[in-house]
Amino acid sequence: MKRLLTVLLASFLYYVGIAQTPHLVQVDATAKSFDISPNMWGIFFEDINFAADGGIYAEMVKNRSFQFNEPLMGWDIDEKNNRNGIILIMNQAGANSRYAQLRISNDSSGFAFSNEGFRGMGFKEGQSYQFSIDARLKELKATDLTVCLLDSNKKTIGKASIKIEGNQWKTYTATIKSSATNPKGSLLLHFSKAGNVDVDMISLFPTDTWKNRPGGLRRDLVQLLANLKPGFIRFPGGCIVEGRDLSNRYQWKQTVGALRDRVPQINRWNTEFKYRDAPDYFQSYGLGFYEYFLLAEDIGASPLPILNCGMACQFNTAELVQIDDLQPYIQDALDLIEFAKGDAKSKWGSLRAQMGHPAPFELKFMGVGNEQWGEQYLERYTVFADAIHKKYPEIQLVSSVGPFSGGDLFNYLNPRLRKLGADILDEHYYAPPSFFFRSASRYDNYDRNGPKIFAGEYASHIPNTDGMARSTWFAAMSEAAFMTGLERNADVVRMASYAPLLAHADAWQWSPDLIWFNSLWSIPTANYFVQQMYSTNRGTHGVKILENNQPLAGKDSLYASAVVDTASKELIIKIVNTLPKAQPIQFMIKGTVSAKALIKGQVLKNNIDLYNTFAKPTAVTPEQIIINSKGNSLPYECPPYSFTVLKIPIDN
Ligand code: AHR
Repeated sequence: MKRLLTVLLASFLYYVGIAQTPHLVQVDATAKSFDISPNMWGIFFEDINFAADGGIYAEMVKNRSFQFNEPLMGWDIDEKNNRNGIILIMNQAGANSRYAQLRISNDSSGFAFSNEGFRGMGFKEGQSYQFSIDARLKELKATDLTVCLLDSNKKTIGKASIKIEGNQWKTYTATIKSSATNPKGSLLLHFSKAGNVDVDMISLFPTDTWKNRPGGLRRDLVQLLANLKPGFIRFPGGCIVEGRDLSNRYQWKQTVGALRDRVPQINRWNTEFKYRDAPDYFQSYGLGFYEYFLLAEDIGASPLPILNCGMACQFNTAELVQIDDLQPYIQDALDLIEFAKGDAKSKWGSLRAQMGHPAPFELKFMGVGNEQWGEQYLERYTVFADAIHKKYPEIQLVSSVGPFSGGDLFNYLNPRLRKLGADILDEHYYAPPSFFFRSASRYDNYDRNGPKIFAGEYASHIPNTDGMARSTWFAAMSEAAFMTGLERNADVVRMASYAPLLAHADAWQWSPDLIWFNSLWSIPTANYFVQQMYSTNRGTHGVKILENNQPLAGKDSLYASAVVDTASKELIIKIVNTLPKAQPIQFMIKGTVSAKALIKGQVLKNNIDLYNTFAKPTAVTPEQIIINSKGNSLPYECPPYSFTVLKIPIDN
């Protein structure tokens, strides 16, 4: 009777949330099941949402060399000054096929024109900006160029003067300090004398770039990537690899060498979504393949370039290269390997050396096509794989299994690529949170001896509010739950990356995204912190974590995975509670747990509808936790709607 009453009371307390019977969770830190790839958690970079030009590539001038379809897009003849001249667009030989000729007619007030930047230029008080321009004069001997940083009210907040002389192309530079902070500024150029002036490659960069490299990358954005400690970086996409048609595909050779030798082209996201049209979206390729490799090296990530395999985006034109004409595409792939890691005396290795990196870059992965499908892909993949593996057997190839992680397209390619002995299959899932909760056990029964899995693009999409899918804590929590399944199956899933990575708040095409930025600031989403809590707590080996001999994959709304880190001597437990109430857990740890050492960790928890904004950038951020160790039996109250990482010092 007393026993019955106790059980009834416990059940009552459990249901009213006052006291609950703890979940008894067994963790065996002594038996390492498999190694975790150092490349496990990485990043997916695509120039979508103005991620490159207008984003991580710190150039502030839009259309610096007049190569947009409308050559003066982004440029404006200054309204306040007299229209004392015209701008002619001149054609010239070479990759940079245009320059502008200013025909200035009135000597008294000169001629001025301005650039609006990428939805405004962001200036910071006290910060310096490096201006440069290529110019030559025609019949004029000299002219003064005044360069002004303007705030959003067109007030000058920084100024420099340059004397332009001579009839040969020359690069002129000036450093300009801003006296104010303004997110919507612009750049004004004023030429003082009448006559003809040719101008090109008009550029403005903050001097404060990542690693202070002139003409480099935005420090804040690269820092956010570096803080993820990513195991790899996939680039340049995404559909951008494929292009809307083949002429629009990404061609790495057009993105290397001197800036003016790169061949700018329209960005495929310029016209993709009618409701988010971006007529000013082009690729200058200032962030080209050399810069991608350098970025990978800087942030300690293995580069994973994805190349076009003779197929344009199948959602668009689906244009195909005939198999007999595939050789130049394959040669591009072979040459890229030489560019990345060939001898500095080789043809492509010497270009890398000339660009500043005589030592080889790391390169062990390469992707053949992006979201391709059908027998046309199999045919092309086979030719690519044979040629690449023959010359570079050490390169592991990533192959597409279509744009979806199930359905006809997937079911066609999946078994066939397995039969072909493909190295790594690239699975994509953009789906609602329910998919991610459900899919926490997706890989439990995958073939252990077949190709490895790259969860190459995923994001939990909640229904749109005011036109965009928000990165709420609920979406992020569902990814955290799903990722316990990736980690629990890290013998099969060797790489994973959220997508897309970056989005300009005033110029995005696709939501949700991992990091939002504007011309001045950047904010990580809740999803970013989930990624970070995994990637910075990767561990070296997977170990079992079970309740009643079963993985925690959604029963009672709990999800968990565990790894040990042999270097830091820690058992790392990740646990997600998707209930609106706390759940007590009793971890029963097998292994030598220090009873004295402190257990450190992090917890992300919040109202499920909350998301980070520029106004409240830290609405959802991890809290640090420190718990006294109790030895092998560790009680933990898993908070409502939470994702926790616990790092338990161990001796085995
Ligand atoms: O991440 C955005 C897009 O989603 C990628 O370009 C493409 O691969 C996928 O369809």
